[in-house]
Amino acid sequence: MARKQKTPRWLEAARRRGPGVPEGARTDWLTRALGRAGVLPRAEAEQAIRDGRVELDGRVEKDLFAPVRPESRVRLDGVERTLTARVWALMFHKPAGPVVHGSDPEGVGTVFERLRAVLPPELAGFEWYAVGRLDRDTTGLLLFSNDEQFVRHATAPETHLPKRYVARVEGLPTEQVLGRLRMGLELEDGTTRLAGAALREPDVVVLTLTEGRHHQVKRMLEAVGHPVLTLHREAVGEVVLDVPEGTFRPLTDAEVAEGLGFSGAAWD
Ligand code: URA
Repeated sequence: MARKQKTPRWLEAARRRGPGVPEGARTDWLTRALGRAGVLPRAEAEQAIRDGRVELDGRVEKDLFAPVRPESRVRLDGVERTLTARVWALMFHKPAGPVVHGSDPEGVGTVFERLRAVLPPELAGFEWYAVGRLDRDTTGLLLFSNDEQFVRHATAPETHLPKRYVARVEGLPTEQVLGRLRMGLELEDGTTRLAGAALREPDVVVLTLTEGRHHQVKRMLEAVGHPVLTLHREAVGEVVLDVPEGTFRPLTDAEVAEGLGFSGAAWD
């Protein structure tokens, strides 16, 4: 039997937006806007809306996808809340173990749970999106943001944001091997882009990639005969990991703008 396709959330929201809202107007849908503005993370926002605790422009709103704009007036439990918020980006030092997925069928824990466990109350109301993925056993720099546009910018292959990985490998890679990594390798999903490759120790390769394909570092090093033993990401763009494992810090505006090349603002 054919599986029923779930309607994507953006499509559902566009349908609800209906003809009343002009094309190109800066709109969002209620649940997502509450998460982005730090009022309530998405799952809690959905429950609050269903429970009739959210008013939009003076009326209780039970539609999760109701269109909202930056100037919409929203109340939660009778208290007026603003829907505008700055773009936040957090640097989190991922330990080995948790998955970068919302769902966790194996029960190993997610990075979202790990992040939430260390967030102060003023950041707990946001819905946090992971910027790209790291494998379960990979450690290091994982960025989070409340803004999906920032996430799209930072993960788009066209942005060419360099990501620096440190891999301890089997064997001792030669200069010739490093040259192959730099020049591009044929993988099953196509040739890899020009990359940076250098040795930090005889069996530790520093690989800098401007793309982020699935398991790319592991597949590249496997392809040149040096399977990865441990993998760590230490930088994205010009942002270098500088917090202890399991902890986070917000990035500064300069790190977001210059270090990651993002100039957008929330609601753009
Ligand atoms: N490449 C990999 O192989 N794994 C990661 O976690 C990140 C990049």
